[in-house]
Amino acid sequence: MNEIFHLQQSVDYTTAQTILEYSYLLSAVFFVVGLKLQNKPDTARAGNIWAGVGMFLATIATIILDKDSQGHGIKNLGFIIISIVAAGVIGTYIARKVKMTAMPQLVSFFNATGGAASAIISFRGFFETPHSQTGTILVSLLGVLVGSVAFTGSMIAYGKLEGKVGDIRAGFMKFVNLALLIVSLAMIVVLMILPEVTTEVTILMYGLFFISLLYGVLFVMPIGGADMPVVISLLNAFTGIAAALTGFLYSNYAMILGGILVGAAGTILTIVMCNAMNRSLWNVILGGFGGSSAVQGDAAAGIIREIQPSDAAVLMSYSSKVTIVPGYGLAVSQAQHTVHELEKLLESKGVTVKYAIHPVAGRMPGHMNVLLAEADVSYDKLVEMDDINPEMEHTDVVVIIGANDVVNPSAVNVPGSPIYGMPIIRADLARNIIVMKRGMGKGYAGIENPLFFLDHTRMLFGNAKDSLNKLISEIKTL
Ligand code: TAP
Repeated sequence: MNEIFHLQQSVDYTTAQTILEYSYLLSAVFFVVGLKLQNKPDTARAGNIWAGVGMFLATIATIILDKDSQGHGIKNLGFIIISIVAAGVIGTYIARKVKMTAMPQLVSFFNATGGAASAIISFRGFFETPHSQTGTILVSLLGVLVGSVAFTGSMIAYGKLEGKVGDIRAGFMKFVNLALLIVSLAMIVVLMILPEVTTEVTILMYGLFFISLLYGVLFVMPIGGADMPVVISLLNAFTGIAAALTGFLYSNYAMILGGILVGAAGTILTIVMCNAMNRSLWNVILGGFGGSSAVQGDAAAGIIREIQPSDAAVLMSYSSKVTIVPGYGLAVSQAQHTVHELEKLLESKGVTVKYAIHPVAGRMPGHMNVLLAEADVSYDKLVEMDDINPEMEHTDVVVIIGANDVVNPSAVNVPGSPIYGMPIIRADLARNIIVMKRGMGKGYAGIENPLFFLDHTRMLFGNAKDSLNKLISEIKTL
């Protein structure tokens, strides 16, 4: 600690500022390169390291070199270092322990902490800023709003993903949310107009904090089921924006840049997710769509037809075109290597095998791509939903492994279904369908899937990895 204190003292204000700005510039380069490398599964790990080094550099530079105009370095060094070390240890432990399928929960939790930190800093910044600095006051107020929404919204999303928080779905929620949004924006305008901090202003400020926290809860509450990916990426964008606003407040370039990168990446992802789910962003912000509860059109019934691994092996081996649709269950059973083995085996028999990738299959964006890349599945075998759908009619066998919502035809032909309008992989159009799952369990959206009852569907029940192993053994005997 003393060493850091001496280092702080050893550099004069101007030199410290110059080195600090160059350090931030360098961290920005690390962030951008890190983000770029994260584009591809094989370089993503290196991308994380680059971004981490950038963050380390920015943090150390701030601790040592950040000074006020009187040349005083940052205070509470002991508290800051203890917090960094404790958070680092806890974060490392959680990140190492978390299962791949629980990543959205972890992302939501990290979003929540980022949002809370930004909201608290912005709240404080409001009272520290002279009221004549209207721009800075506005930034602090927006920081409170966006940070608080990111905090409570992400905590509710975390609870929903863990299955601990249910949905509250009522038509009027949309209007309540709109009213809360209008009230909070009106409060921001009033707080900007008032000339100085008085008791009324303090009360109003606490009011804004409270309403923003409440809005975060209420806007995520009605969203559920298959629409969760959109809300998670939106909250991720909010956290980035809140961090950038906090950076503006304290003129910290590293925070501004880091926040903008997260905010922009989150916004792009939200747009991609909205397109993937065929939802409008405005509807997401007002929180009035989706839901995991069963509603009209949920009923699916009929005869379930099973298939044994031996028959499935024959069907697939004598096909010319097989398409595999991976889903959450594949990740749960960690069958990525086994499915790759099946693919190679079938190809050795002259069958053309492709993977149909739905943008929200699994539990995180790109989940299936990451999973299959881990098993060295060639990238050119992964075909996006829009490109594979026109081929479905000419596919001999579609093998659905642990996927459910992303192949549910209710999205296309049951207007009352909670997933109605969501683009799906048109497995129902293939000549033969084999579904591998453990039983008749529902998918994340919690609704029945009429696909399982179609005449040309055969169910191969069992844990995905076990069923795949049996299938491989049978194919080898042919
Ligand atoms: P889901 O609809 O969640 O269905 C997965 C199916 O896998 C279940 O029906 C389950 O049936 C089966 N399963 C579970 N464990 C299995 C195992 N060990 N072996 C074999 N089968 C197993 O999956 P999906 O089709 O990939 O759709 C993803 C859903 O998650 C969408 O609704 C999406 O909106 C939502 N979501 C996605 C994300 C992102 S960003 N990807 C984030 C949050 C939510 P059994 O129990 O009968 O085996």
